[in-house]
Amino acid sequence: MNNLHTSKPFLKWPGGKYRLTNRINKKLGQGKRLVEPFVGSAAVFLNTDYQDYLLADTNQDLINLYLHLQSEGLVFVEYCKTFFTKKNNNEGKYYKFREEFNASTESRLKSALFLYLNRHCYNGLCRYNSKGIFNTPFGRYSRPYFPQNEMLNFFHKAKNAEFICASFSDTIRRITKHDVVYCDPPYVPLSKTANFTDYSAGGFNWKDQIALADWASRLATKGIQVVISNHNTPTTRELYLKAGATMENFKVRRTISCNPDKRNPVGELLAVFG
Ligand SMILES: C[S@@+](CC[C@H](N)C(=O)[O-])C[C@H]1O[C@@H](n2cnc3c(N)ncnc32)[C@H](O)[C@@H]1O
Repeated sequence: MNNLHTSKPFLKWPGGKYRLTNRINKKLGQGKRLVEPFVGSAAVFLNTDYQDYLLADTNQDLINLYLHLQSEGLVFVEYCKTFFTKKNNNEGKYYKFREEFNASTESRLKSALFLYLNRHCYNGLCRYNSKGIFNTPFGRYSRPYFPQNEMLNFFHKAKNAEFICASFSDTIRRITKHDVVYCDPPYVPLSKTANFTDYSAGGFNWKDQIALADWASRLATKGIQVVISNHNTPTTRELYLKAGATMENFKVRRTISCNPDKRNPVGELLAVFG
């Protein structure tokens, strides 16, 4: 499904839902506030029209970047742009900036470097080791794109958004009866080798998927609608069916793999609770 009039996220993000926002929108009900416990690149936030938003993620670097953009707007965009030069697009500079990012405690600099790394690293992959060190290698792009318009668009939209660095279980505790909830957790792996759970140190395991489905089921009994995205596998179907959801299945072309042969359509599902 192509989105003709959609706002593009300014970050490359594994599992980003930019291409699916029309489909997701059709499932989301009415409410005052949209809550996204797994906001990632914020594709759904950017392409919905709620009065307020609560946007959360466990990735502190991601949330800090959003907070700087939200509070500073164009000034911050111009600052980030200074890192996107021809001189900075080589292996030596990339690894120097990556080291600086990992060592820095200066939030504004770290946020600008996070954007630089996102656009210059291999495949836009946001990968940390077990110590929380960002370790994605250099991406070798001839001219990394600086997403100025996308950032400004995000800034304008973010006036009614609250960004928090929190685990989904903490975000869910803040949900009230006028909310609608869209959950896009790290995918269950499709095979033993494919692992999409390394978005941030910590990962997300099967117990977390069960806990999320339980929460969704409980919220639905209180009249709060929850929509969850995931891979369409026998285990996810069984999990959401048992928890009382209705489901829509469809295929989507995945762009996370750098190998074109592996970009086969994979099954996705949307589980709707309530
Ligand atoms: C599939 S991505 C979300 C993609 C997003 N919908 C988009 O369009 O870009 C999953 C997100 O969940 C976050 N995450 C992982 N574990 C989490 C947890 N326990 N609680 C909240 N967020 C978590 C990751 O940092 C990642 O950004």
